[in-house]
Amino acid sequence: MHRVVIVGSGLAGLFTAFRCANLGCEVLIVSEKGSSSEKAQGGIAAAVGESDSTALHFNDTLQAGNGLCDRHAVNVLVKEGFERVTELTELGLKFDEGLGREAVHSRNRILHIGDFTGKNMLSFMEELTQDIPREEGRVVGLLTEKEQCNGIIFERNGNVEQIPATVVLASGGFSALYSHNTTHQNITGDGLLLAYHAGAELKDLEFGQFHPTVFKNFLLSEALRGEGALIVNQKGDRLMKDYPLKELSGRDLTARVMQQKSLNGNTFFLDATGINHDFLKSRFSNIYKECLNMGVDLAKELVPIAPAAHYTMGGVHTDLNGRTSINGLFACGEVACTGIHGSNRLSSNSLLEALVFGARASNAASKEETRNAGEPCLIGKVPSEETKEIMWKYCGVIRNENLLKDGLSKISSKLAELVMASALARKESRGTHYREDYPKQNKPLHSFIRIDRDEVIFRVR
Ligand code: SIN
Repeated sequence: MHRVVIVGSGLAGLFTAFRCANLGCEVLIVSEKGSSSEKAQGGIAAAVGESDSTALHFNDTLQAGNGLCDRHAVNVLVKEGFERVTELTELGLKFDEGLGREAVHSRNRILHIGDFTGKNMLSFMEELTQDIPREEGRVVGLLTEKEQCNGIIFERNGNVEQIPATVVLASGGFSALYSHNTTHQNITGDGLLLAYHAGAELKDLEFGQFHPTVFKNFLLSEALRGEGALIVNQKGDRLMKDYPLKELSGRDLTARVMQQKSLNGNTFFLDATGINHDFLKSRFSNIYKECLNMGVDLAKELVPIAPAAHYTMGGVHTDLNGRTSINGLFACGEVACTGIHGSNRLSSNSLLEALVFGARASNAASKEETRNAGEPCLIGKVPSEETKEIMWKYCGVIRNENLLKDGLSKISSKLAELVMASALARKESRGTHYREDYPKQNKPLHSFIRIDRDEVIFRVR
């Protein structure tokens, strides 16, 4: 039987595993502890509302992405997203009544299960995949042979094992490469490094999304603002009052304005006290409880907030079937860059991406064959706390040439170096990539990087 190894156990990983098993493959899921999906609060966007359409969802995704979305990929996302959500509900997944609203969406479109949609979807998928073998450990390398990936090198409890297989990376982005982040601490971009060292092309690494409303690395979902919560400064002035979409402006804009004003001495708070208390405590029960554990009553008090790294738009360059530039190596979910998010992801499109491109990657990966031979390509140690501090300080929400050059001179982690080099090479501001020395937008170009050149190349797709 053809073996497929799925690297990662978030929503993309489990959905891909489920599909591959149903397609008759021998499937093995390998991952370290934790995923970003389990931290996803808001929900999953799909044009299921009466006044909604996939055309509107398409337009909103393009608007958030600031000129860099791949229209064909977005079309696949919104159309097949609707189908995949229907597939899961037919399998028994139950969403709550009512649709939430988040930034830049022109309609209420967010399906949710309480205020921890990702965790609840993951529990559902865990049940569906309970018969698929799963191993906990770190994938430290790939087995490759002439632009072909033949398997993984897996480290578990100090033992290293080679496993021949077709490989699907579903290991998440690199938000935990930053000291301030909303994700699981293992999400430092190993999947991108595995692909890079195997010779695969990476794309648009300079685009990482910073979420504006984070309380001590704990996310306060944008859905709260969708229900009327405000961002205010120490004097009670609303941060986004002068922008057309106010508190539901894009995350890129909101995080940047907040960061700029913080540098001028302001401090910021989420004010959810205007939301009906009973509704707040039931609709956002987990967030309410977590805040209370951290000493703040969300219904009565303002919560101190600051931006933190939240999501990675760039990643392993794939086609719409999850194929990377290396045969036998696939990628889906946040680790991949299909072009759907452009320079700033539309909120709640990430769980949708996991389903749509997980399904497509499983169709393609299941048609491969298992090969045995291969040279080991290893990725090295996990990034240090110092690397994360350097990334936050030198390659954060607001960037400039001096900062990035200083950061590059201090950094020792390969992926951090590639992200900084990509940020240095993009001499414009677009979406989440803000260069105070180049505040305007240039032509909408993508950046690519791979090991045989190890330099950032900009080109139009
Ligand atoms: C949130 O709940 O604010 C995050 C949702 C997302 O990242 O799409």
